[in-house]
Amino acid sequence: MKEAKMRATSTSTPRAPTEFITDAWYVAALGSELGEGLLGRTILGRNLVLYRRTDGSPVALRDRCSHRGYPLSAGCRQDDAVQCSYHGFTFDGAGTCVSVPGQTSIPKRAAVQAYPTVERGPFVWVWLGDPDKAASEDIAGGTVLVDAGWRFVTGYVRIACHQTLLVDNLMDLSHETYIHATKIGTPEVAETPITTNVDRDARVVYASRHMDAVTSPPSYAELGLRSPVDRWQDMAFHAPSLYVLHSRVAPAGTPVERDAETSAVHVRIVYALTPVDAGNTHYFFAIGRDFALDDDRLSQGMEKSQYDLIAEDAAAVELLQRISDAEGPPSEVSIKIDTAALAARRMLASMINEGGSR
Ligand code: FES
Ligand SMILES: [Fe+2]
Repeated sequence: MKEAKMRATSTSTPRAPTEFITDAWYVAALGSELGEGLLGRTILGRNLVLYRRTDGSPVALRDRCSHRGYPLSAGCRQDDAVQCSYHGFTFDGAGTCVSVPGQTSIPKRAAVQAYPTVERGPFVWVWLGDPDKAASEDIAGGTVLVDAGWRFVTGYVRIACHQTLLVDNLMDLSHETYIHATKIGTPEVAETPITTNVDRDARVVYASRHMDAVTSPPSYAELGLRSPVDRWQDMAFHAPSLYVLHSRVAPAGTPVERDAETSAVHVRIVYALTPVDAGNTHYFFAIGRDFALDDDRLSQGMEKSQYDLIAEDAAAVELLQRISDAEGPPSEVSIKIDTAALAARRMLASMINEGGSR
């Protein structure tokens, strides 16, 4: 892997891109959301209907009947097909129209667009761009979501802001000190410098913050991890939409290999940020742990605390979005702690420049 040290400075603040990359895999749904029913979901401004075939494989079709444009998500299932509930046109999982009322010949143009889908780990991914470029091995994040020995709790929130406000939010965790002060924020998070690296070929921005002998954050202290603790935050943003944070906490001085999976309390925090449109984002999460795998109460607690944290972030980014809508984008002053967020903006902008955006 080629890595180059970032040299972003406070005088170089690229604006967050406003366009979206289409030639990319995006999370369309939690696997647990899909079943026999029809799920309507808007992604990159396109309305989709999602469901599972009887063999379990996911389907994503354009949510617009070819006859008069009625939403297929308001229709019903006919085995592996979906029937429009207006006049009964029926489409299979490939988008082919297999039945129309009152005649046996079916116009070829009656097909609706079908989009490539892949289920990996707890997420169902969809590709809206050039279908010839869709390769499932290109799904970002490697094995982080499918490793054996990890248990994930998952969830979903829709947030009323542009996707890039959430990229900024996640790449600059110094906000934990202020926005999440009662949960995971401590003064040391904002005070500790980050290290940023970029792998341009793989389109990943890495950022790390390692804190030694610091205050245990309130949420961990409640679990019995008393101060001082060693705490690491190792982040990877797989452009354009997947964010993985390895959070490790251990009693200060615990002899740990910093990259060892088995040392300390290690949680994998995965967020998938899928644009709805310019003012809204689907926010999927999967929080994984490799300890206490059978502890259902711990799972419930992790799920609740994740929703509580996201509510705090959502309040902040939605406020930013409303002000931006009213007054225009802000003129910004960047500091060292912004290096990773700025690198992510540059990565998104360069992907848009390469094409496959809208
Ligand atoms: S609009 Fe769907 S069948 Fe007429
Ligand atoms: Fe946050």
